[in-house]
Amino acid sequence: MTKEELVELAIKASANAYAPYSNFHVGACLLTKDGNTYPGCNIENAAYGDTLCGERNAIFGAYARGVKRDDIIGLAIVADSPRPVSPCGTCRQVMAELLNPDTPIYLANFNGEIMVTTPKELLPYAFCEKDME
Ligand code: THU
Repeated sequence: MTKEELVELAIKASANAYAPYSNFHVGACLLTKDGNTYPGCNIENAAYGDTLCGERNAIFGAYARGVKRDDIIGLAIVADSPRPVSPCGTCRQVMAELLNPDTPIYLANFNGEIMVTTPKELLPYAFCEKDME
Protein backbone atom coordinates (compact mmCIF):
# COMPACT_ATOMS: atom_id res chain seq x y z
CA MET A 1 0.00 0.00 0.00
CA THR A 2 1.32 3.49 -0.85
CA LYS A 3 1.49 6.28 1.71
CA GLU A 4 -1.17 8.12 -0.30
CA GLU A 5 -3.52 5.13 0.08
CA LEU A 6 -2.86 4.93 3.82
CA VAL A 7 -3.55 8.67 4.15
CA GLU A 8 -6.78 8.17 2.19
CA LEU A 9 -7.87 5.55 4.75
CA ALA A 10 -6.99 8.00 7.54
CA ILE A 11 -9.16 10.66 5.86
CA LYS A 12 -12.04 8.14 5.76
CA ALA A 13 -11.49 7.43 9.47
CA SER A 14 -11.70 11.15 10.27
CA ALA A 15 -15.37 11.05 9.20
CA ASN A 16 -16.07 9.14 12.44
CA ALA A 17 -14.40 11.73 14.68
CA TYR A 18 -16.51 12.85 17.64
CA ALA A 19 -15.27 16.41 18.04
CA PRO A 20 -18.19 18.70 18.96
CA TYR A 21 -15.96 20.90 21.19
CA SER A 22 -12.97 21.62 18.96
CA ASN A 23 -14.62 20.81 15.63
CA PHE A 24 -11.12 19.56 14.65
CA HIS A 25 -11.54 16.16 13.04
CA VAL A 26 -8.48 13.89 13.09
CA GLY A 27 -8.17 10.55 11.33
CA ALA A 28 -5.43 7.95 11.54
CA CYS A 29 -4.69 4.58 10.04
CA LEU A 30 -2.06 2.06 11.11
CA LEU A 31 -0.68 -0.49 8.64
CA THR A 32 0.79 -3.89 9.57
CA LYS A 33 3.12 -6.05 7.48
CA ASP A 34 0.34 -8.54 6.73
CA GLY A 35 -1.54 -5.69 5.01
CA ASN A 36 -4.16 -5.17 7.72
CA THR A 37 -5.21 -1.62 8.54
CA TYR A 38 -6.44 -0.19 11.85
CA PRO A 39 -8.32 3.12 11.71
CA GLY A 40 -8.74 5.63 14.51
CA CYS A 41 -10.26 9.07 15.04
CA ASN A 42 -10.38 11.57 17.87
CA ILE A 43 -13.12 11.11 20.45
CA GLU A 44 -13.78 14.13 22.67
CA ASN A 45 -15.63 14.50 25.95
CA ALA A 46 -17.31 17.36 27.81
CA ALA A 47 -14.61 16.70 30.41
CA TYR A 48 -12.06 17.89 27.85
CA GLY A 49 -9.05 16.07 29.32
CA ASP A 50 -10.74 12.73 28.72
CA THR A 51 -10.37 13.20 24.95
CA LEU A 52 -8.59 10.47 22.99
CA CYS A 53 -6.56 11.57 19.96
CA GLY A 54 -7.04 9.90 16.59
CA GLU A 55 -3.57 8.38 16.37
CA ARG A 56 -3.66 6.93 19.88
CA ASN A 57 -7.08 5.47 19.10
CA ALA A 58 -5.59 3.71 16.02
CA ILE A 59 -2.51 2.46 17.92
CA PHE A 60 -4.51 1.23 20.92
CA GLY A 61 -7.11 -0.35 18.62
CA ALA A 62 -4.39 -2.28 16.81
CA TYR A 63 -2.78 -3.44 20.06
CA ALA A 64 -6.19 -4.46 21.40
CA ARG A 65 -6.49 -6.78 18.39
CA GLY A 66 -3.13 -8.44 19.01
CA VAL A 67 -0.80 -6.29 16.89
CA LYS A 68 2.77 -6.00 18.23
CA ARG A 69 5.36 -3.27 17.68
CA ASP A 70 7.33 -5.26 15.08
CA ASP A 71 4.18 -5.88 12.99
CA ILE A 72 3.66 -2.14 12.38
CA ILE A 73 5.05 -0.72 9.12
CA GLY A 74 3.33 2.66 8.95
CA LEU A 75 0.95 5.12 10.56
CA ALA A 76 -0.87 7.92 8.74
CA ILE A 77 -2.39 10.86 10.65
CA VAL A 78 -4.46 13.53 8.97
CA ALA A 79 -6.52 16.62 9.74
CA ASP A 80 -7.93 19.57 7.82
CA SER A 81 -5.01 21.75 8.91
CA PRO A 82 -2.94 24.32 6.99
CA ARG A 83 0.20 22.21 7.47
CA PRO A 84 0.39 18.41 7.94
CA VAL A 85 -1.05 17.70 11.40
CA SER A 86 1.44 17.76 14.27
CA PRO A 87 0.88 15.04 16.90
CA CYS A 88 0.54 16.15 20.53
CA GLY A 89 3.17 15.33 23.14
CA THR A 90 1.12 12.51 24.66
CA CYS A 91 0.77 10.78 21.28
CA ARG A 92 4.53 11.17 20.66
CA GLN A 93 5.23 9.48 23.99
CA VAL A 94 2.85 6.63 23.10
CA MET A 95 4.44 6.23 19.63
CA ALA A 96 7.90 6.13 21.25
CA GLU A 97 6.85 3.08 23.26
CA LEU A 98 4.40 1.21 21.01
CA LEU A 99 6.07 1.70 17.60
CA ASN A 100 9.65 1.03 16.55
CA PRO A 101 11.88 4.15 16.50
CA ASP A 102 12.27 4.13 12.69
CA THR A 103 8.72 3.17 11.65
CA PRO A 104 7.45 5.68 9.07
CA ILE A 105 4.81 8.12 10.30
CA TYR A 106 2.93 10.04 7.59
CA LEU A 107 1.64 13.42 8.77
CA ALA A 108 -0.86 14.82 6.32
CA ASN A 109 -3.58 17.34 5.66
CA PHE A 110 -6.63 17.41 3.40
CA ASN A 111 -4.66 19.32 0.72
CA GLY A 112 -2.60 16.23 -0.03
CA GLU A 113 0.58 17.40 1.71
CA ILE A 114 2.40 14.49 3.37
CA MET A 115 5.40 14.81 5.69
CA VAL A 116 7.30 11.60 6.44
CA THR A 117 8.82 11.27 9.91
CA THR A 118 9.50 8.65 12.61
CA PRO A 119 8.80 8.22 16.34
CA LYS A 120 12.52 8.85 17.01
CA GLU A 121 12.39 12.16 15.14
CA LEU A 122 9.12 13.21 16.77
CA LEU A 123 10.39 12.56 20.30
CA PRO A 124 14.16 12.41 20.71
CA TYR A 125 15.51 11.21 24.07
CA ALA A 126 12.10 9.79 24.99
CA PHE A 127 11.45 8.58 28.52
CA CYS A 128 11.27 4.78 28.46
CA GLU A 129 11.15 1.71 30.67
CA LYS A 130 14.98 1.45 30.78
CA ASP A 131 15.12 4.79 32.59
CA MET A 132 13.39 3.15 35.55
CA GLU A 133 15.97 0.37 36.06
N1 THU B 1 -5.94 15.82 18.18
C1 THU B 1 -5.69 14.58 17.65
O1 THU B 1 -6.58 13.72 17.63
N2 THU B 1 -4.46 14.32 17.17
C2 THU B 1 -3.48 15.25 17.01
O2 THU B 1 -2.43 14.92 16.48
C3 THU B 1 -3.70 16.64 17.46
C4 THU B 1 -4.93 16.85 18.29
C5 THU B 1 -7.30 16.12 18.62
C6 THU B 1 -7.53 16.23 20.08
C7 THU B 1 -8.78 17.10 20.10
O3 THU B 1 -9.92 16.29 19.92
C8 THU B 1 -8.64 17.99 18.89
O4 THU B 1 -7.71 17.35 18.05
C9 THU B 1 -8.17 19.39 19.19
O5 THU B 1 -7.07 19.38 20.01
